[in-house]
Amino acid sequence: MSATIISGKEIAAEIRSELTERVKALKEEGLTPGLATVLVGDDPASHVYVGMKNRDAREVGFESRQITLGTDTDEDELLGVVQGLNADPEVHGILVQLPLPPQIDESRILEAVDPAKDVDGFHPVNLGRLAAGDDRGQVPCTPRGIVEMLLRSGHDPEGKHAVVVGRSTIVGRPMALLFLRKGKGGNATVTVAHSRTADLAAVTRQADILVVAVGRPGTVTGDMLEPGVVVVDVGVNRVDDPDTEKGYRLVGDVDFESARQVASAITPVPGGVGPMTRAMLLRNTVDAALARRG
Ligand SMILES: NC(=O)c1ccc[n+]([C@@H]2O[C@H](COP(=O)([O-])OP(=O)(O)OC[C@H]3O[C@@H](n4cnc5c(N)ncnc54)[C@H](OP(=O)(O)O)[C@@H]3O)[C@@H](O)[C@H]2O)c1
Repeated sequence: MSATIISGKEIAAEIRSELTERVKALKEEGLTPGLATVLVGDDPASHVYVGMKNRDAREVGFESRQITLGTDTDEDELLGVVQGLNADPEVHGILVQLPLPPQIDESRILEAVDPAKDVDGFHPVNLGRLAAGDDRGQVPCTPRGIVEMLLRSGHDPEGKHAVVVGRSTIVGRPMALLFLRKGKGGNATVTVAHSRTADLAAVTRQADILVVAVGRPGTVTGDMLEPGVVVVDVGVNRVDDPDTEKGYRLVGDVDFESARQVASAITPVPGGVGPMTRAMLLRNTVDAALARRG
């Protein structure tokens, strides 16, 4: 078997074009969704990510604002910026790019963001709502994007055994909660595996849908899969590759070549989950703007 490739890149482009229409209509009604991104320090990867997020936001017609602060910014200064954005009626979504410099307590900053503007979905109020099965909260972009990608590619999780490898607060945990949710995109039977799982292959072989979010290349190989499984690879890892211009390439957590021989469908890296995450940031911002309007 050779798996169908689920192109997150194409599905995300479709979502962006739908959002562009939506935003156009909202603007005619006098509502322009506003996204503010806050970047602290000079981490090159963070600069690239924030740049892409702002470009996406402008492309779909948002008002987008980027606030860039120096590496030596202290916690109080950043808290002040967040509070200013909380109070600004033109800002519907706030994204504080992680990681933050070591002198700043990330959880204090994330908790300072107004939960209604928390388009990353990392605020404890939003995570709590997700855990409680309450649909009013914002949902973290990566798991939300994965559900959307599965639905749009014809792989509804309902009634399936979804296995999630990884239990981080930004991916694995909310992913499991979304799969568990009653309603569209949920209603799966869910298993979560992590670094202390005794026999990972025995767990992954039970999956109808397998989501891998670990951060280590080759964590899942083809021999750990049952034929026909749908594989979603969240991992983004740099591996050395002297044949490329940059000297490295990006790979996921799943060994793509062996997995594609066994799976019925698989997401590539790059071009799979990443673009969906970015598209969901836009959707979360539109949702926040609509909720604000009431
Ligand atoms: N494409 C995107 O949009 C996107 C978004 C977010 C993240 N990512 C990527 O996804 C990956 C995971 O990110 P994250 O933030 O969730 O990472 P993380 O916070 O480091 O969490 C990794 C998880 O994997 C588990 N784990 C580690 N080694 C394992 C093993 N050998 N077997 C089973 N589980 C193992 C850890 O278990 P313990 O809890 O026991 O330590 C942990 O729960 C990274 O490559 C990241 O770059 C991509």
